[in-house]
Amino acid sequence: MVENSLSSASITSNLGTHFIGQRVIYYPSLTSTMEVARQEAQLGAVEGTVIIADEQTAGRGRIKRVWLSPKGSVALSIILYPSVVNLPSLIMLASLAVVHSIEAVTGLKPQVKWPNDVLVNDRKVCGILIESSVRGNIVDYAIIGIGVNVNLRLSGFPEIQSTATSLSAELGRDAPRLRIIRQLLVEVERLYLALQAGGSIYEEWQDNLVTLGRRVQVKSGKTIYEGVAESVTKDGSLLLRHSNGNLSKIVAGDATLRD
Ligand code: BTN
Repeated sequence: MVENSLSSASITSNLGTHFIGQRVIYYPSLTSTMEVARQEAQLGAVEGTVIIADEQTAGRGRIKRVWLSPKGSVALSIILYPSVVNLPSLIMLASLAVVHSIEAVTGLKPQVKWPNDVLVNDRKVCGILIESSVRGNIVDYAIIGIGVNVNLRLSGFPEIQSTATSLSAELGRDAPRLRIIRQLLVEVERLYLALQAGGSIYEEWQDNLVTLGRRVQVKSGKTIYEGVAESVTKDGSLLLRHSNGNLSKIVAGDATLRD
């Protein structure tokens, strides 16, 4: 029987981190962990505070999409106060932390689809949302929101069945949710400290991108680009080669693998 009950204590106890996950606010059910995290950050919550819910009733995705997070999935937000230079790296940091923790706990081999979806066998298993408040060069706060389909039966969610997967679906058995959460917090702290110490996580992020060399369609605002994903820049932008030989630099968008 795989453990699956969550509590603040079960997450923080002997976690081994310095600050990420040392304060955890747990809710059995919540609209969105991003909402509470924003309120907490505005009140000056200690860095590394985690808001986690067993289930979200109004989970938010990127580009104003809805994020489904029923019981059995992981939905958490982490409050950080990074420098403005490190802000663009949070996308890379979060996706790498998810890749490492899923791999360490389950043995599966996840990959990152630009900019920050985590896939297993080309299907989405995790979404990441970064929200921040920035004034000039001052970052008031940044929140990393992470949603992982851990123990989710896709047959109950026809709207995402063709594009998404879950760890339990890939493993053929339930995955240990608490272990994945704890490993994720450890990985976020390790990468965040490395970043603060002047290290780069760009190369590692690039090495984990499933997108490079693939034919993709990218929706960025109202523009749709088609081409082959050639490389990514250090600020996280995608360089897309079109069939006429032209190159586009795309700062933000949503990529669909076409091959
Ligand atoms: C996406 O792929 O569109 C991003 C999904 C992000 C979902 C997470 S779940 C925890 C946090 N709370 C939310 O409402 N959204 C993020």
